[in-house]
Amino acid sequence: MDHFLYRDGALFAEDVPISEIAAAVGTPFYVYSTATLLRHFKLFDDALNGMDHLVCYAMKAASNQAILKTLAQAGAGMDVVSGGEYLRAKAAGVPGEKIVFSGVGKTADEIRTALAGGIRQFNVESEPEMEVINAVALDLGVIAPITVRVNPDVDAKTHAKIATGKSENKFGIPIARASEVYAHAATLPGLDVIGIDVHIGSQLTELAPFELAYTKVAELTEQLRAEGHNIRRLDLGGGLGIPYTRANDAPPLPVEYGALIQKTLGHLGCEIEIEPGRLIAGNAGLMVSKVIYVKSGEGRDFLILDGAMNDLIRPAMYEAHHDIVAVTEPAPGVEQRPYDIVGPVCETGDTFAKQRNMPPLAAGDLVAFRSAGAYGAVMASEYNTRPLIPEVLVHEDQFAVIRERPSFDEIINRDTIPEWL
Ligand code: LLP
Repeated sequence: MDHFLYRDGALFAEDVPISEIAAAVGTPFYVYSTATLLRHFKLFDDALNGMDHLVCYAMKAASNQAILKTLAQAGAGMDVVSGGEYLRAKAAGVPGEKIVFSGVGKTADEIRTALAGGIRQFNVESEPEMEVINAVALDLGVIAPITVRVNPDVDAKTHAKIATGKSENKFGIPIARASEVYAHAATLPGLDVIGIDVHIGSQLTELAPFELAYTKVAELTEQLRAEGHNIRRLDLGGGLGIPYTRANDAPPLPVEYGALIQKTLGHLGCEIEIEPGRLIAGNAGLMVSKVIYVKSGEGRDFLILDGAMNDLIRPAMYEAHHDIVAVTEPAPGVEQRPYDIVGPVCETGDTFAKQRNMPPLAAGDLVAFRSAGAYGAVMASEYNTRPLIPEVLVHEDQFAVIRERPSFDEIINRDTIPEWL
């Protein structure tokens, strides 16, 4: 459920008409709903009720500081994957003890930044990384809390580009080698080995792969404890999928996911962490765009929008489906017609949807891409020297621009010309 609904024939974000935001900030833009972000966070938080837990929002999904602050004030921790994300979380007021650091390629500088600023734990992905964390910690005179990310060799049954838990993926250490790697970690004086981490992929629409992975983590916890390790925290990653179409797909609910965690791991008495990104932000955001032209082609009509693949890359990159709706609600019974919905970028990949049924639209009309809150603005680029589009946050009847559209001068003046030219 989200808070983007039609009222009296017009699409609203909470209590604000989308057309009012468009008039104020211009198109295209991203708009997020505070109530939806908080609702989704609370679903996870409630789902883990009864277990000692922390929901660490995977901020790679949408990392504007206003979003981070909204969630942090509700009690969320953060999962970061770069020094930049770490600093952004800190800037938004998240304390170090609520930040976990994931990712396969943490550099010594990034590790130093996090250890100096305070960190809940590093999720370590390899032995060379473990050595570097140990060395930096010793240099700073601190002890680094770590978990080791294990790769359980489970098929997450999701798009190949976002599956991470198969043995051929670059993530984690093979679960079969865990015993050896934990024994090695225990010899390093700069580390405190506190738990196990796992993350098998994103946009999972079934619980079965989670169940397989978490069962393996439960067995590993018992084995490692028997080997003398004080395993007390389990980080279970993110990955629960969202419905991208209103009509027919319904992934499991957070409450069912929470019950699975309780069933597979509850008996171990560990503190539980999860790292959801998409489910918190995805359906809490829209990308709003304007029709520039309606062009009649050979046997098909094109809706040419002012938004493009550089603003929302998911359809081009993952063949992802986003529902696209007219901001003015179509009159009941109006006949829909198929359009190819495209952006202005000079490549055919800049296509959002083919032969998508839409109500008749004309130049100047607004459309909204649903489920665009996660992996939308954060994956945007300035390809074709198109400015990054603004982000807007709505809270009840108020809205605020939380990232401005840069001017062309700002973009162009970032280049520097060498003196020999
Ligand atoms: N934890 C780790 C270690 C991750 O790598 C990810 C996502 C998450 C948590 C959050 O997963 P989520 O709950 O959002 O599924 N750009 C792609 C998605 C990439 C996901 C990468 N890792 C897309 O647009 O579909």
